[in-house]
Amino acid sequence: MEINSKTKLFGLIGHPVEHSLSPLIHNYAFKSLNLNYVYTVFDVFPEKLEDAVKGIKALGIKGVNVTIPHKEKIIKYLDVVSEEALKIGAVNTLVNEEGILKGYNTDVYGFIDSLTEVGEKIKGKKAVVLGAGGASKAVCVALALEKINEIVIANRNVEKAKELSEYIKREFKVSCNYCSINEVEKIPEMDILVNTTSVGMYPNVEDSPVCEKVVSRAKFVYDVIYNPFETVFLKYAKRNGIKYSNGLSMLVNQANYSFKLWTGGFFDKNLVYRRLKEGIT
Ligand code: ATR
Repeated sequence: MEINSKTKLFGLIGHPVEHSLSPLIHNYAFKSLNLNYVYTVFDVFPEKLEDAVKGIKALGIKGVNVTIPHKEKIIKYLDVVSEEALKIGAVNTLVNEEGILKGYNTDVYGFIDSLTEVGEKIKGKKAVVLGAGGASKAVCVALALEKINEIVIANRNVEKAKELSEYIKREFKVSCNYCSINEVEKIPEMDILVNTTSVGMYPNVEDSPVCEKVVSRAKFVYDVIYNPFETVFLKYAKRNGIKYSNGLSMLVNQANYSFKLWTGGFFDKNLVYRRLKEGIT
């Protein structure tokens, strides 16, 4: 479909944004459904966030994804914020309804779906989550909402792990402990091990947040990283015959929930996965 005067505009605000895969996902999905919509990226510096929000309203941009570093700070500029986004303290999707800007968080449901996709159940299990930043928060909230039995947050900066674990305990009444990432070796077994740190991400593809021995004690391993598709962390899982999955599914599933908020329906995930695999490798 050609861009014309009826084209509706969508986009991503963040900093930096130039390596984002969201334009590829959404434009492909719009095209596959013959929608006269287009998705682009806006590199917004932190001090320009309030102006950017005003710009979204003034220009009538229909829907926006929000990424690092704006997910938390944007909340104060919005007209309406969904209950779960408020609880998580982060917004990744905006819907512009006739000038009223509404904020949602689709990361949490994106993560839940990516475990469901591979048949991994969460209820009653024990998870170890590596990292204590924004991605860790979304993963921990998802695990808590799905009634996990116990979470251990392991981070290089132990103070951050402590803060997040206290937040999860307080808000979701779930058993949540914390330790230094160097201490995960002492944990004898776990059902689910999730890496939310940036260790192993391109260009540092030889790194892993923990050693093979730790990975071998898990029954299911998830890495939020998707570049590369198979991190060293996931290679350890593969070598030990452990079920594993990469961050592409979280990326696609969170995008699909945003897409539903904007268009009223989901896109065909399999088509999008195929397109991404062609596009990245
Ligand atoms: P995101 O929103 O993607 O989670 P973030 O909030 O910046 O990004 O969090 C990055 C996470 O990766 C943090 O847990 C960080 O650990 P610290 O809190 O100790 O900084 C973790 N991380 C980044 N580089 C790391 C490294 N070299 N070793 C261990 N952890 C690292």
